[in-house]
Amino acid sequence: MKVLQIGTKDTYALRQKVLRPGRSLEECHFKGDDADQTFHLGAFVDNKLVSVASFYYERNPAFEDEDQYRLRGMATYEEHRGSGLSRALLRTAFPLIKQNFCSLVWCNARISAQGFYEKTGFTTHGEQFDVPEIGPHLLMFRKI
Ligand SMILES: CC(C)(COP(=O)(O)OP(=O)(O)OC[C@H]1O[C@@H](n2cnc3c(N)ncnc32)[C@H](O)[C@@H]1OP(=O)(O)O)[C@@H](O)C(=O)NCCC(=O)NCCS
Repeated sequence: MKVLQIGTKDTYALRQKVLRPGRSLEECHFKGDDADQTFHLGAFVDNKLVSVASFYYERNPAFEDEDQYRLRGMATYEEHRGSGLSRALLRTAFPLIKQNFCSLVWCNARISAQGFYEKTGFTTHGEQFDVPEIGPHLLMFRKI
């Protein structure tokens, strides 16, 4: 397994299949995807991209830290889940985020992925809320 930095468009196929099934590729583009401080990571198994995650310099007013990163678009193909790929992406991302002088990472986590985030050191902040057309979420964060 290899973790590499990838381009925005490289994330689309996984995002579409796993996070936006039945939606157009345009809907797999997220705000800030091409911003200077954004980066995207991919995990490759046998040279195939099978897991992605994206990181945005974006402040959530729920937290006092001036400089924060947002984690989004975390997805692993079903047949590769549970083998530590997403965890490896986070392990690669955290030092890069710290280099940008940020020590807080947050995400809007799907309830179904809450257990994953807890296992990788994230904590819930506040109450459950609904993201239209996607479902119930929790704001979660981790200090790095
Ligand atoms: C959530 C997701 C990205 C995790 O990817 P993954 O590559 O399977 O994660 P890892 O293998 O690195 O998991 C790390 C640990 O979390 C556990 N875990 C993974 N997904 C979990 C989940 N949904 N609930 C509870 N625990 C989970 C793993 O079993 C593993 O535990 P271990 O360290 O005890 O072995 C993947 O399940 C997925 O693509 N889900 C659908 C899309 C989604 O919900 N994305 C998140 C949107 S907020």
